[in-house]
Amino acid sequence: MRLVMASANAHKAFEIAQILTDHEIQPRPDSLGEIVEDQETLEGNARLKASAVCAEAKSPAVADDTGLEVDALAGLPGVRSARFAGDFATDSENLSKLLKDMQQVPSGQRTARFRTVAVVVFPDGKELIAHGVVEGSISEEPRGTGGFGYDSIFVPDEGGGSTFAEMPAEQKNLISHRGRAFRSLAQMLNQ
Ligand code: IMP
Repeated sequence: MRLVMASANAHKAFEIAQILTDHEIQPRPDSLGEIVEDQETLEGNARLKASAVCAEAKSPAVADDTGLEVDALAGLPGVRSARFAGDFATDSENLSKLLKDMQQVPSGQRTARFRTVAVVVFPDGKELIAHGVVEGSISEEPRGTGGFGYDSIFVPDEGGGSTFAEMPAEQKNLISHRGRAFRSLAQMLNQ
């Protein structure tokens, strides 16, 4: 199936294309302006992006939204992960704010999870929704150079102590929130 990707983030697009290999993935249309992700939930934001791209491209569209939920911060940054340090914050500003807010949190209480919701919207209004979660903890300082976003401070429980940024992309994909959500979505698309 031809699927238009809502994300223009090259890292994400690469991770997703590695999983949806049975489908022809097309880039986000240039004609589409910025989509303001103002919904209260990950699912709401993912649906908003997929619907906008589907309407513009007149083709099935796929979008995802991800949040990092930190237990010591009552689930923050969650749906606000991309704007944690402000509306136009960079990845590194968001990461620095998170480490600062967690300065007093001892190891053992730094548990967190990444959660992804992936949505495909079809031109007839139908949709498919898949979820993916990876449990882990927040390191005291950044480690590793791979990946993006909060990867250098997220230590997945199944990663032998490495952060996502210290792993090859294939290893991250095997256990990651996005990998899980998109493998589940791939199964639904093949049914
Ligand atoms: P979005 O779903 O791409 O809008 O991502 C929300 C926020 O989470 C952004 O700050 C991203 O940088 C971050 N993020 C999304 N996916 C990942 C990931 O796989 N690793 C690390 N950070 C991520």
